[in-house]
Amino acid sequence: MAAVSNVLRLGVNVDHVATVRNARGGIHPDPVRAALIAAEAGADGITAHLREDRRHISDGDIERLRSQLNIPLNLEMAATQEMLKIALKHKPHAVCLVPEKREERTTEGGLDVAGQHNTLAPYVRALVDAGIRVSMFIEAEIRQLEASRQLGAPVVELHTGRYCEVPIGPERDKQLERLKIAAAHAAKIGLECHAGHGLGFDTVGPVAAIPTLAELNIGHFLVGEAIFVGFGPAIVRMRAAMDVARK
Ligand code: PXP
Repeated sequence: MAAVSNVLRLGVNVDHVATVRNARGGIHPDPVRAALIAAEAGADGITAHLREDRRHISDGDIERLRSQLNIPLNLEMAATQEMLKIALKHKPHAVCLVPEKREERTTEGGLDVAGQHNTLAPYVRALVDAGIRVSMFIEAEIRQLEASRQLGAPVVELHTGRYCEVPIGPERDKQLERLKIAAAHAAKIGLECHAGHGLGFDTVGPVAAIPTLAELNIGHFLVGEAIFVGFGPAIVRMRAAMDVARK
């Protein structure tokens, strides 16, 4: 059984600051500056996804995040030899293994840990051996949780995309229930459980209230909200919404 703590960490994903920067190919806005503002505003960690096609975060961003941040860096990456080499070079606090398809707009589903056990095993082992905390980004399914545990990953992150996409009503309730069941099962089998994808002010409360979740990773909504209220204030409000839900 994983220890249940009342602390719910907020990992702020800065990918889409880089998306805006890359739209013009220059250096503004800088995701590292955003990460430093996020840390000031109460983020417990920074998440960045280095994609194979480098559509947002670049190798240089990872290097600068690693050297300038004084809060943990969670590197999201696909299980490929290229990414493994980068992770082992920079040794971030954490790596979250995600599925990646070149054509997708975002990470559309969870990693099929159950179906790709043999492919994923050497990556998990190499990262764990390097002292990096490994998490598997999965759908809220018991078989994916069990497969993650069998692989020796200490953490799973539940994909909240479907829950966030559907309107308030029975389908949203059903998706929330799936997340609750999976988070409870994760604790039962000794996995630390995180969640993320698509969360905003309207959807974060019920997820934050799930007692066995230890961390939420949130990016796109916060970067969008920053246009209207600023990045720091958006993060402060998100943090407060999480804290209220936890109480
Ligand atoms: N967690 C994981 C594993 C992700 O891939 C993403 C998106 O990069 C997020 C969390 C954050 O999702 P969003 O940007 O929709 O908040």
